[in-house]
Amino acid sequence: MAFVEFRDVTKTYRMGDVEVRAVDGMTFDIERGELAVIVGPSGAGKTTVLNMLGGMDSATSGTIRLGDRVVSSLSERELTQYRRHDIGFVFQFYNLVQNLTALENVELASQISDDPLPADEVLAKVGLAERADNFPAQLSGGEQQRVAIARALAKNPKLLLCDEPTGALDYVTGKQILRLLQDTARETGRTVAIVTHNLAFTQVADRVIRVREGRASSVELNAHPADAMSVEW
Ligand SMILES: Nc1ncnc2c1ncn2[C@@H]1O[C@H](COP(=O)(O)OP(=O)(O)OP(=O)(O)O)[C@@H](O)[C@H]1O
Ligand SMILES: [Mg+2]
Repeated sequence: MAFVEFRDVTKTYRMGDVEVRAVDGMTFDIERGELAVIVGPSGAGKTTVLNMLGGMDSATSGTIRLGDRVVSSLSERELTQYRRHDIGFVFQFYNLVQNLTALENVELASQISDDPLPADEVLAKVGLAERADNFPAQLSGGEQQRVAIARALAKNPKLLLCDEPTGALDYVTGKQILRLLQDTARETGRTVAIVTHNLAFTQVADRVIRVREGRASSVELNAHPADAMSVEW
């Protein structure tokens, strides 16, 4: 059994009389410790998949598992625990609390986890020890995204989910973030899933899940993933 199992999952949104099939029979696996990249065009269903994996949205049908948990069968209450303890989420636009410092943003996340990593150590790990007392508005976009990654990592999550984590960043900063995510999977053995429409990311992934119109059109394993810093786009 794979660490993450997505089996024949559908997600239908109803808007008045119109039904939108955001995910239409999606099946894929992700093994523990892998860096998985979920890639596909706009509207393919990538964010919907990530939200369902993270317990922020429910599947209409199908089965989603993480380890020994059947995420798709959890109650609201269990989902809250799942989001809190098992999942780290990195958003496209950071979502930091503006009136808390970098360190306080990370602490906020570690406080709700029952197996957190020390906030200051995680902040140092993403290269921001010196900026611990700065507020988000005093940080560059790349620094804010690194705080957001530190916040997710400090929870010590079983699965780190990142939705277009470099979408708002310039080229060089984007590469640094990609390297940080690759190092996280390699050095800590945590499982990382990145959603992107940037095809260059597929070169660094252990597993590439291509999605199109709500389905996984292919799943490939990279025998020799490239180093994030060597990839160009
Ligand atoms: N809450 C919602 N209500 C109705 N339709 C939705 C909702 N969320 C997503 N959709 C629709 O589901 C489809 C998939 O959306 P999704 O956001 O998952 O795409 P995506 O692959 O993340 O796209 P992008 O690359 O632009 O972020 C789209 O057609 C979208 O309009
Ligand atoms: Mg999206």
